Amino acid sequence: MTTNINTMDVNQKMTHFAERNEIWLFGYGSLIYKVDFPILDQQPAEIRGWKRRFWQGSHDHRGTPDAPGRVVTLLAEPDEVCVGMAYLIAPAVLDHLDFREKNGYLRTLVPMCLVNGVETSGLVYIATAENEAFLGEAPLEEMATQIAYSVGPSGRNRDYLFQLADGLRQLGADDSHVFVLESAVRQVLKSGDD
Ligand code: SIN
Repeated sequence: MTTNINTMDVNQKMTHFAERNEIWLFGYGSLIYKVDFPILDQQPAEIRGWKRRFWQGSHDHRGTPDAPGRVVTLLAEPDEVCVGMAYLIAPAVLDHLDFREKNGYLRTLVPMCLVNGVETSGLVYIATAENEAFLGEAPLEEMATQIAYSVGPSGRNRDYLFQLADGLRQLGADDSHVFVLESAVRQVLKSGDD
């Protein structure tokens, strides 16, 4: 069942970090390559028990309500490790992030492991299957075509994927879901040119 909740309202009511003056935020999608907020530190990091998937619809960034794009969310998967970038931020930055991630993402507390070996708890924005914009899995070809041609206020959906794939290569992350999709989108675009 999907619910049309206002994730900004829900996120703004979360008080987990009320006592802290610094928070580690784990980025696994656009937050890896687009850092439009002030940071105090950053470190490659990983979280255990989560997999990254292009299963979330994007109505406000990489698509439109009539023609949503596809962006990443995380799904619980016990044996998986998700590699991303962790940012140390001041709590004041959360307002900006709640707005940026408003299309279905909820603040979630997770244990994370920084590249320097430090284990800490931090925050990650996750869009669960219950949110209205969630699309779920689709055949590879279908997801690739949707990503190849969707466009929204933040730009082309394919650029979201290509920039994420580049960011993951820089991090040395082995994420076959992202890399297979990247090849499939390039193939769709190449066939479109023929
Ligand atoms: C993230 O990058 O951590 C969340 C999903 C996104 O904004 O692409």
